[in-house]
Amino acid sequence: MTTERRDYRVGGPEADRAATAGLVEAEWFRPPIDPERLRELQVRGNARAAIDTIAWLGLLAGFGYLAFLSLGTWWAIPAFAAYGALYGGAGDSRWHECGHGTAFRTKWLNDVVYYLASFMLLRQPTLWRWSHVRHHTDTIVVGRDAEIIFPRPPSPTGVALVFLPLVNVPRLVARAAKHAIGHVDDEARSFIPADELGKLKWESRAYIAILAGVTAWSIAIWSIVPLLYVGLPTVYGAWLMVFFAITQHAGLQEDVLDHRLNTRTVYMNPVFRFLYSNMNYHVEHHIFPTVPYYSLPALHQEVKDYLAPASPNTWSAYRQILSTLRRQWRDSAHEEPRGDLPAASDGGRSFVNTGHTVWAGDRHDGLIDLGPANALAPGSARQVEVGDEAYALFRLGDGTLVCTEGLCTHGQAYLAEGVVLDCLVECPKHNGRFDLRTGEAVRYPATDPLTLYPVEIRNGRVVSSLHAEFEESGV
Ligand code: FES
Repeated sequence: MTTERRDYRVGGPEADRAATAGLVEAEWFRPPIDPERLRELQVRGNARAAIDTIAWLGLLAGFGYLAFLSLGTWWAIPAFAAYGALYGGAGDSRWHECGHGTAFRTKWLNDVVYYLASFMLLRQPTLWRWSHVRHHTDTIVVGRDAEIIFPRPPSPTGVALVFLPLVNVPRLVARAAKHAIGHVDDEARSFIPADELGKLKWESRAYIAILAGVTAWSIAIWSIVPLLYVGLPTVYGAWLMVFFAITQHAGLQEDVLDHRLNTRTVYMNPVFRFLYSNMNYHVEHHIFPTVPYYSLPALHQEVKDYLAPASPNTWSAYRQILSTLRRQWRDSAHEEPRGDLPAASDGGRSFVNTGHTVWAGDRHDGLIDLGPANALAPGSARQVEVGDEAYALFRLGDGTLVCTEGLCTHGQAYLAEGVVLDCLVECPKHNGRFDLRTGEAVRYPATDPLTLYPVEIRNGRVVSSLHAEFEESGV
């Protein structure tokens, strides 16, 4: 039994320990899934996300209007409560999904909702974007993940305080104020690339300016009403965000490379799923972050046999979580049982390949055979292994074949398992994107370009020298 407290600071001494233990940017378990089915599930459209966003903002405006009409009466309390829950609570899953860039097919729509929801939650967009990349890379790895809600041992006071954002929200504002004057803390520097720090400063200044403006307005008219609409809903509506967020990882295992052990899926009713954008399928989201929220229930059906049983409902999940936290308060080594899970290894490679893999062979003409051309449909990809090297072969929507290096330049993810979106490929790990015509990285967190290799078709087979295109031309 132990109640010893570890150092949860990102970049602290535990970060070195995690690196030594092979927990940093490692490969994680993925269940097998038919690659064509996965491609279907990864398809994004604008319609579903637009309907959900209009419904969310419509409800927000409706309750805001009701609150305005009922000012000075007791009815203003439930009206503002609903407004706050939609603003500081339901805003969280919109922030999340648009941050991944998966809600809408159109990039700018994701960006608009991401920035709006970021402000509602007082999260600086650049800071939290990179923090969330780290959360997906090293989920619940102590010293690496900045989004661990309950450090062990979790005291009853600490658990209660999470529901009381009176502490957390002022901290967010104070941090934005520090960043606005250029004092970026060490934690932020540990995961934000240096060339993104300037953005952080300007976003923080914009936040502080808006909050200061609304506060000044409230003071000028000597009324708290403006602040009840902008600023304070982050505080009084945050309980809903916390209510959902706790079900994701609370009490589950630290320092493992298997989301089935540190992440929880909970069956929720349709109202909760609307408010929470289906993030109750959280294990599925962590394993396949390229699947948009509206396809997570279908994804769950595909892979559930390989996962820990889902909690049957929110109430049951909370009972289990509170029981686990209570036991961890006395013994921080206590773990919630997850049941028997299928083995996580696949021939020594814990990351189960979900793409069609071809082990390429030499040809007599010095080219490498990358497999049959007609087996690759438009919008699909194939992984090609040549010795110890991995390559990815894509067919774009217009039929063009493109061969690239196999691993994302940001991390250890196989691009053939990503999504082909017109002439782009989206990485399966953090949703970084590359332009397949040029190799250019066009969406964070990917910043370095991909190497492209020339391909041609001979006798129905795709072949390549696998010498980089620019090397050949001497550029
Ligand atoms: S591994 Fe991070 S974007 Fe590809």
